[in-house]
Amino acid sequence: MGKLAVVILAAGKSTRMKSKTSKVMHLLAGRPLITYSIEAAAAVNVRPLVVVAGPDQRDVMAEVKSRGGIVAIQREALGTGHAVLQARPALSGFKGRVLILCGDAPLVREETLKKFVSEVEEQNAVCGVLTMEMKDPGSYGRIIRDLDGQPVRIVEARDAHKDDLAVKEVNSGIFCVEKKWLFDTLTKIEPKNHQKEYYLTDIAHRAISEGKKMVAFPGGGDPREFLGVNTRVDLAEATACMRERINRRHMLAGVSIVDPERTYIDADVRIGNDTTIWPGAMLLGKSRIGSACTIENGVVLKNSTVDDSVHIRSYSVIEDSSIARAAVVGPFSRLRPASVIGKNVRIGNFVEIKKSEIKEGAKANHLTYLGDATIGPRVNVGCGTITCNYDGRAKYRTFVGEGAFIGSDTQFVAPVRIGRGATIGAGSTITKDVPPKALALTRSPQVIVKNWKPKRQVKGKR
Ligand code: UD1
Ligand code: CA
Repeated sequence: MGKLAVVILAAGKSTRMKSKTSKVMHLLAGRPLITYSIEAAAAVNVRPLVVVAGPDQRDVMAEVKSRGGIVAIQREALGTGHAVLQARPALSGFKGRVLILCGDAPLVREETLKKFVSEVEEQNAVCGVLTMEMKDPGSYGRIIRDLDGQPVRIVEARDAHKDDLAVKEVNSGIFCVEKKWLFDTLTKIEPKNHQKEYYLTDIAHRAISEGKKMVAFPGGGDPREFLGVNTRVDLAEATACMRERINRRHMLAGVSIVDPERTYIDADVRIGNDTTIWPGAMLLGKSRIGSACTIENGVVLKNSTVDDSVHIRSYSVIEDSSIARAAVVGPFSRLRPASVIGKNVRIGNFVEIKKSEIKEGAKANHLTYLGDATIGPRVNVGCGTITCNYDGRAKYRTFVGEGAFIGSDTQFVAPVRIGRGATIGAGSTITKDVPPKALALTRSPQVIVKNWKPKRQVKGKR
């Protein structure tokens, strides 16, 4: 391909989203919409990459810069044509063609962009537009062709006559245009339309009336690829389409997904082969899952790392944590941020863990809270154990040495340290350190009163 720059439009008012967040920063499978356009453009190897943003879109600017793009500001959203024109200074040293993408169209594939650009180059066209056929073309701009099938202009739905509205071939919003002609032409277009905006689409008619070569290239395939997200309904549709792609990619790479329509995996999640995922699981953010794992129904896993052969049982919620090989977690476990679960560890139902390390082979199987703790290898944490890690002002740590046995219903009043191999009797409130191999017990002795007759009787009943 010849020299190619890209301009991505992101400065629109996003009125139809009815949101305080700019449209292109809404998340789709864990990433902002704009990121998809930036990545598709980067894959086509364009340079420079300019994103047109509004003056208040600081989040958009930060995202663009973090991905090596240049930001051009459109002070007022006066239309797509006006938006493209704002990229002119950023491209002053560039000669070649400009690929124009909309930041609200996240499903466009790099292969399609490559095919389109090659077609425009082969035909040596000054202006090319990528088009699609839609059963229900709704608010998309219509591609109007003459009797010979040559494109003559693009009409926005709001400005279209009845006959034009019936046209099923529409503008995807993606253009590839010779740079000098593009900017010269954009200075000439006028906001003579229903919205009183400067429309990029007007360049098509200009090219034809100047006798220049203009290409309207049908993208073919699934028209959802060019879906523009204008409303939250569109966002849900785009999300469903992306989910289908993501799940298919994992299945083809050897992951079993029991019910792909009910499995929610973000774009940046990685999963090893022979892992099985049950319905309702949500694997989010930058989570990494190894091979031969089982992730049961309703599991929520966010920004966490899971090694090979781990089994996460139903309805466990895990965030910013890591789980080592062959550990079993759940059902109904909660791992809050900075939980580090060692090899072969068992974490059972209604166990909450926060900022704690549970070392190899340790078990905490029932109804337990471990916060700010280090639990040594092969420790058995009995049911109902609690770390009292907070005194109302600060947090303190609990250390439990290797092989210790913690009886049920123990409270550790931190800071406290339990030696290796120590035993804590059930029901103890531990406030002082316990030496290795010692028994610590704070229970009051049990009293037995024989033949006890209760003094009070329940009134009215005998
Ligand atoms: C646009 C096209 C329409 C096409 C559709 C494809 C025009 C006039 N219409 O309509 O033919 O079928 O996309 O999805 O081009 N933007 C700016 N500054 C502005 C206005 C818009 O940066 O002043 C950006 C938006 O953030 C968005 C993109 O340009 O990312 C498209 O704008 P939008 O308002 O969504 O246009 P559509 O009505 O969808
Ligand atoms: Ca749009």
